[in-house]
Amino acid sequence: MTQTVSRPAVGARTPLPLDVEAIRADFPILSRTVRDGKRLVYLDSGATSQKPRSVLDAERDFYETCNAAPHRGAHQLAEEATARYEAARATIAAFIGAQPAEVVFTRNSTEAINLVAYALSNAATAKEPAFRRYAVGQGDEIVVTEMEHHANLVPWQQLCERTGATLRWLGLTDDGRLDLSDLSTVVNERTKLVAVTQQSNILGTINPLDQIVARAHEVGALVLVDGAQSVPHQPVDVTALDADFLVFSGHKMLGPTGVGVLWGRYEVLDALPPFLTGGSMIEVVRMEGSTFMPPPQRFEAGVPMTAQVIGLAAAVEYLQRLGMEKVQAHEEALTGYALAKLAEIPGVTVIGPPDTVARGGAVSFTVEGIHPHDVGQVLDDLGVEVRVGHHCAWPVVRRYGVPATTRATFYVHTGYDDVDALADAVRKAQEFFGVVPSSEGVG
Ligand code: ALA
Repeated sequence: MTQTVSRPAVGARTPLPLDVEAIRADFPILSRTVRDGKRLVYLDSGATSQKPRSVLDAERDFYETCNAAPHRGAHQLAEEATARYEAARATIAAFIGAQPAEVVFTRNSTEAINLVAYALSNAATAKEPAFRRYAVGQGDEIVVTEMEHHANLVPWQQLCERTGATLRWLGLTDDGRLDLSDLSTVVNERTKLVAVTQQSNILGTINPLDQIVARAHEVGALVLVDGAQSVPHQPVDVTALDADFLVFSGHKMLGPTGVGVLWGRYEVLDALPPFLTGGSMIEVVRMEGSTFMPPPQRFEAGVPMTAQVIGLAAAVEYLQRLGMEKVQAHEEALTGYALAKLAEIPGVTVIGPPDTVARGGAVSFTVEGIHPHDVGQVLDDLGVEVRVGHHCAWPVVRRYGVPATTRATFYVHTGYDDVDALADAVRKAQEFFGVVPSSEGVG
């Protein structure tokens, strides 16, 4: 998808690339009100996104017209369900520039990361020698970053506990970037895998993956990219990314809950043993033992989340109609505007990059003298729905010396009016708590 999109200046209220009013009309939930008739200002798409009617219709249509278990049964409904499920796989694969056989459906990004982590530890004891190629054991190292969501940290801690491998990590700079000054020592000949987020769910930072991937491959390590916060918001192409795995969640990209994607380089997937085992992932089963299907079926045990996969394909088609370049430019304009509006409020400090350079639309901030949970409560009373807390990235808030943050995240239906509502609500929270900030606004 190649489009030319002009990038507005930070803070400018220039026309947005997407037609917000037309898009809002596609989302039934946005017509409801909250807290005694207030307009719903939904600024929590980073946690989960709302769903357009076409996604809801796709799921309903599947259940109403051809509900059956795919890849089992020879009746007409099973054939149609299989065709719809595999067509959805092709649509989703094309969205990230992948081959369908490289796309494995999981429950979400978390499960996709656990799948890889368990496959790597299962490899050590695999009966089939071909499955031992990527085995992780004592003396090996796994590298993560201090910026990771718990989903891309805890599974690697657990892998190290199971196998005796060592976990190492890249730190953060004061301005919310990855500190790559020790990249060549942290990622070294002992490294088996580097797991890194493409876009931070809390800081908004977009990471320089090319440098990290190049170093990892130089030492023969695999790279897993957590795309949970990037694939919904920017064009992502697995060939350009050059990693070995990419994970993302359907529910954060206008799709249903309960479906996520593990993309893996075919050669790598093919050398991994399964994580979950059972029906439909086997070739031959005897009482003495079983053999397994090639990818992606090897990693899709049990009846899959068929309606959700079909719903996710509808979400992908919706995003493709908007154009991912435009989606990214839209959020960049909103982010610049939000950073400028928040910088005008004394006592507000943004945690993360202060401008829109290599930065996505997650804006986390603190309000001097008010705990983020209290900020969130006042905002909620005004219809402004944000996330507060450590955002499942506890080491990040600890790194910046705050207990938690308030976080606004933007998406295709977000407009300048939503950002204005956020800034007004923050000022009202200050009035409500009688806070007199000691500092001028900090960007
Ligand atoms: N990972 C989601 C978030 O950042 C839940 O809010």
